[in-house]
Amino acid sequence: MKIKENWHLPDHKQAARRTKNAVEVIDDFQIDNDTVNIGNGKRYFISTYGCQANERDSETLSGILEALGYEAASQADQADLILMNTCGIRENASNNVLGEIGSYKRLYRENPDLIIGVCGCMSQEEGFAHTLLEKYPQVRLLFGTHNLQDLPSMLSRLQNPKERVVEIYSREGEVYENLPSHRASQHKAWVNIMYGCDKFCTYCIVPYTRGKQRSRTMDAILEEIKVLKKLGYKEITLLGQNVNAYGKDLSEDLSFAGLLEEAAKTGIDRIRFMTSHPWDFSSEMIDVIAKYPNIMPYIHLPLQSGDDEILRRMGRRYTSEDYRRLFDEIREKIPNVSISTDIIVGFPNESDEAFEHTMDMVRYAHFDNAFTFIYSPRPGTPAARMEDPISESTKKERLLHLNKVWNDLALEKNKAYEGRIVEVLVDGPSRKDPNHYSGYTDTFKLVNFSGNNLKAGDLVRVRIDQAKTFSMDGTAIEE
Ligand code: SAH
Ligand code: SF4
Ligand code: F3S
Repeated sequence: MKIKENWHLPDHKQAARRTKNAVEVIDDFQIDNDTVNIGNGKRYFISTYGCQANERDSETLSGILEALGYEAASQADQADLILMNTCGIRENASNNVLGEIGSYKRLYRENPDLIIGVCGCMSQEEGFAHTLLEKYPQVRLLFGTHNLQDLPSMLSRLQNPKERVVEIYSREGEVYENLPSHRASQHKAWVNIMYGCDKFCTYCIVPYTRGKQRSRTMDAILEEIKVLKKLGYKEITLLGQNVNAYGKDLSEDLSFAGLLEEAAKTGIDRIRFMTSHPWDFSSEMIDVIAKYPNIMPYIHLPLQSGDDEILRRMGRRYTSEDYRRLFDEIREKIPNVSISTDIIVGFPNESDEAFEHTMDMVRYAHFDNAFTFIYSPRPGTPAARMEDPISESTKKERLLHLNKVWNDLALEKNKAYEGRIVEVLVDGPSRKDPNHYSGYTDTFKLVNFSGNNLKAGDLVRVRIDQAKTFSMDGTAIEE
């Protein structure tokens, strides 16, 4: 494969750099007159992998495409443009994406004008970008997480059928304020409060794929929330890889606790936030969450490991004791709080004893929910260079054991809801039965329930009849 001069390919070294340069805020997004109708009569389909940051980016991509005249297609085989917004957090992610590209072979053969594009975190990885260009000629568009705003000009260049467009910048990034977006829901919304990550946990690819930590201004965030409220949104989730560090890159005076409090004062019904790194989680934050009833009593608090040596080698900057203290303070100050976590098993050279320390914490914390993973080496990260004599089968056994224990504890926890009346934000009726609905409690428990004449976005009271490990069944109370 010949690398073309006008291609911008990812550069891992560049992506790892952090400078003290101020972050540029750009709010002059415009579409040229000769591009503005480029999508008229055409349809697009986006498949989204990974975390909420990607979900939100896909909403932005949809917004840009619709501003160009494209309409959404409900299936890939009806689309003229297919975008895969990828995630690189673990290795199996890339296999799924390559499988999806392979599945479009027939579509591409039948319609050579079909544009297949790949974007998101995986395209920021050197190895993946090269493999893709080399082995998948049907992919004519490859762009990175810093290049969303370039979509109109990239599509314009693709009108030349010989052109292949590769725009992946490995830089610290900017903050874009006025990109169009088409939100997936009319009652729940993601609100980015910051982009990127500077934590560089040793196993993690995100700081390389998403750039430097860049906080949005408080004014921009609050304005977005107020607009959402006016539009009738009931719930917002403030998004960042590490929301507790909000504002530190802008000013000493800004803090996540301050932002959260101002967000609560807008009066929007429900506020959530994701993700809180235990480091930087201040007592002030806990007090604010406890004070405002519209800040949901649910905290996702990734543990990763319960072993101090592993935590140190992960670069997490807290000990198991720090985590326990924080956990206790949250439990004590926020009544009815639910806490979920992320755990990695099989970090390089994790001994049986170290794994037992994680299990000790799991039994202590009695988490409401847990997202558990086997460690996956990410090329170019420090942990990928660590020696790892632990076998894959041991890691799998540990994961199974961990899942069994946390599932049992979570079920026990959910059982305490039986007979209780909870408030649920309705997501919509089930496809099979119009009198069956689903939605989430304030504590982020999924509830499937029966009711009458409800619609997405209603806040209803539901009696919990039966609790399971991952959901609960209930009945809406007619009032
Ligand atoms: N910013 C969040 C995490 C985002 S990634 C935080 O720091 O809490 C979501 C989760 O994926 C992480 O919490 C971690 O548990 C998992 N993860 C990240 N890199 C991984 C890797 N290389 N292998 C396995 N799991 C990983
Ligand atoms: Fe990854 Fe750590 Fe940043 Fe989370 S805080 S995104 S785990 S580097
Ligand atoms: Fe994946 Fe990128 Fe999110 S790697 S988890 S989509 S920030």
